[in-house]
Amino acid sequence: MSIENKKTVEIYERKAATYLKTTIEHDKLDEEKAKRKKEKLHNFIKTNLDSLEKGSKVFEIGSADGENAKYIKELGYNVTASDIADAFIDETKSKIENTIKFNVLEDDFKDKYSAVFAWRVFVHFTKEDLDIALNKVYKALENGGIFIFNIMNRETKTCDEEWVDFPNEYHMDAERYYKYFLEEDVNNLISKTGFKIKSFHKEGGDNKNKWLVYVLKK
Ligand SMILES: C[S@@+](CC[C@H](N)C(=O)[O-])C[C@H]1O[C@@H](n2cnc3c(N)ncnc32)[C@H](O)[C@@H]1O
Repeated sequence: MSIENKKTVEIYERKAATYLKTTIEHDKLDEEKAKRKKEKLHNFIKTNLDSLEKGSKVFEIGSADGENAKYIKELGYNVTASDIADAFIDETKSKIENTIKFNVLEDDFKDKYSAVFAWRVFVHFTKEDLDIALNKVYKALENGGIFIFNIMNRETKTCDEEWVDFPNEYHMDAERYYKYFLEEDVNNLISKTGFKIKSFHKEGGDNKNKWLVYVLKK
């Protein structure tokens, strides 16, 4: 676990309430936009989990407010929600009983899963952290299992990494570590794991961020 991730997690522990509050407040500024964004993500999740039988085990890394895990549960999957920060676990537990404290960089998965989902989590990972996470998830998946994640795109940025506090959505009153990845660097790490890239696309996000979105298959 890098010092960058460790320090960022300390901020999440201290500032989780601010994060949850500003996310809700930001969504209220333009409820239609927030709804469209949520629907887009839900459609993406549904489409990519569709090949799995209902009841299949799905693990979410870094659930934070638990909204994505809640949706995955509603789709009929057996979801395990998780977060490294205790401050988020209570929030997620109110939606998903099966919520555990889990640091993907240091803890072992206790089960095998049909799919693992990590949304906006690896933005706080160094390249070495990402390498560890990819290999751990690979081991935790059943053969044919799916790993869905996104990561921030370096192409639209002027640096590889920075400590930043966004002014609008996700504002936290404290700077967190952000890593911006080149597609070829992520692809190189993936190629060393055994994963095949099932689908890949780039998309825009708030705060002028661009994302690399991966669906991998074991
Ligand atoms: C930007 S938030 C995203 C939350 C949620 N996935 C979403 O899309 O709304 C990043 C989350 O990653 C979690 N996180 C950061 N480092 C982690 C690690 N090493 N292991 C597990 N979770 C981690 C944080 O606690 C936080 O909940």
